Amino acid sequence: MTRKDAPMHRLDDKTAVITGAAGGIGSAAARLMAAEGARVLLADLDLECVDDLARTIREDGGNAVATTVDVLDEDSIAAMIDKAIAEFGGLHVLCNHVGGSDPSKDTDLLSLDLAEWDRVMNLNVRSTVVASRLAIPHMIAAGGGSIINTASVAGVQGDAVQCAYGTAKAGVISLTRYIATQYGPRGVRCNAIAPGATMTPALRDNLPTEVVDEIRRNTSLRGIGEPADIGHAMVHLASDESRYTTGQLLVIDGGLTTQSAFAPGRRDGS
Ligand SMILES: NC(=O)c1ccc[n+]([C@@H]2O[C@H](COP(=O)([O-])OP(=O)(O)OC[C@H]3O[C@@H](n4cnc5c(N)ncnc54)[C@H](O)[C@@H]3O)[C@@H](O)[C@H]2O)c1
Repeated sequence: MTRKDAPMHRLDDKTAVITGAAGGIGSAAARLMAAEGARVLLADLDLECVDDLARTIREDGGNAVATTVDVLDEDSIAAMIDKAIAEFGGLHVLCNHVGGSDPSKDTDLLSLDLAEWDRVMNLNVRSTVVASRLAIPHMIAAGGGSIINTASVAGVQGDAVQCAYGTAKAGVISLTRYIATQYGPRGVRCNAIAPGATMTPALRDNLPTEVVDEIRRNTSLRGIGEPADIGHAMVHLASDESRYTTGQLLVIDGGLTTQSAFAPGRRDGS
């Protein structure tokens, strides 16, 4: 760990649940939160992977416990929240991080598979509703809390593909504002992060090199994000540094959605 990454104990008094903690961004967030002192419940379909991650975090001096969860199953989400309370005695931070869609079925409006539409709404939006409903009473009991929802730049722009995914992520952004509005007076903050292209195993495996090059060309910072770029923002939103921040969408995309569609050509002189 470099001096610049040295923890500042920003989450010493916090307990956190992260869904999708075995994934690229989720595991980075888990490591960073644990390094800042949080007690973290790592929840994922892939129990073996979160078990390994929890062990590594503990070996590094952090406090992490793993559990399996299927966010498509309400009872499984309830068991996850119960486990957090049983392990840590309370809950301050919930990261609703699982999401996605199957691009082979989630295409344009006319050809997309409606069964995939329903699954995508459940995976991205309903899971966030269910977990948040179960967590909020514990956060209120703990004197306040922070919910961090993972959206996507797909939720703020249209695209030629993944109609269900983009619509679901727009739903996550709107839900974030409703939770912030309805539970802010009781000390519960809720914010969303919209990552742009972030170099996770899923991205590395699924995106052709020419698409990655195209993203680079269209991004003012000229690069693909790293999972820790999102993880650091999650630490900020989990900590009391952001105590006056709620209902916000933090877009972390290297400038992909900020720049004009004409900018790459003008920059290159073409
Ligand atoms: N990587 C990107 O470029 C990018 C960009 C924008 C938004 N996002 C969002 O970030 C989040 C995570 O992305 P990632 O790149 O870290 O993905 P990832 O594929 O690396 O990880 C996803 C994790 O979720 C778990 N998972 C899948 N279905 C589950 C279920 N039903 N219940 C519990 N766990 C389940 C998987 O086992 C995996 O560990 C998603 O919400 C995604 O939409 C990612």
